[in-house]
Amino acid sequence: MKVLAIIGSARKKGNTSALVNRVLAPFLEAGAICDTVYLSDLNLMPCTGCEACADTNKCVKKDGMQDVYPLLREADVLIAGSPTYFYNMSGLMKMFIDRCYCLTSYDREDRSAWISELESGPSRIAGLISICEQESEADLGFTADAMAAAFGSLGYRIVFNRKVLHAFKPGEVLEKDTTLEDLDRGAAQLYRTARLLKEKNTN
Ligand SMILES: Cc1cc2nc3c(=O)[nH]c(=O)nc-3n(C[C@H](O)[C@H](O)[C@H](O)COP(=O)(O)O)c2cc1C
Repeated sequence: MKVLAIIGSARKKGNTSALVNRVLAPFLEAGAICDTVYLSDLNLMPCTGCEACADTNKCVKKDGMQDVYPLLREADVLIAGSPTYFYNMSGLMKMFIDRCYCLTSYDREDRSAWISELESGPSRIAGLISICEQESEADLGFTADAMAAAFGSLGYRIVFNRKVLHAFKPGEVLEKDTTLEDLDRGAAQLYRTARLLKEKNTN
């Protein structure tokens, strides 16, 4: 079983990192092959819509994302987390998702027909986490829904999509027992789903 964890905040000891690593824990304990990518380490360039990837499924931008494409192609499980920035995912997470455009292929005559390369092998699953400072879910805005739509379209079945509210200071979320209990339930569900997926994919 291969797992890819994506951290969409530049605060390496922040809330996103704490929660993504928490969801990763049962996979590490079970001996799964796990890679963690801090998007702030990649010096990501934005997708410019050049369409050079249209025939090749390869992005021409030479930055840290080139090391992540093989991990994406190999992982059965994606764990992705983003802080809320102005009612949506962080710029880092959006840039990462946009750079996954090269994984998609469109019919030449009818662009309403398209697939993601990640749909064309064994099934894949994802657990998503959104974090915001305010207490009200309205202040998380579109973060959770936008990530679910994007990763869903890239070929992941979204097993959980947790909204974590009221965490501001780096790592503050680790003081919130109820949040952590809920997240642990999500992590266990994701791990068990991944185990089933592996069993069925190899049968
Ligand atoms: C640029 C920026 C925009 C933010 N926008 C929102 C927002 O719209 N709603 C909210 O509740 N919190 C907002 N926050 C607070 C962060 O979502 C919150 O502090 C979160 O815990 C940060 O996660 P991290 O520790 O993983 O970086 C914003 C923070 C920054 C830096």
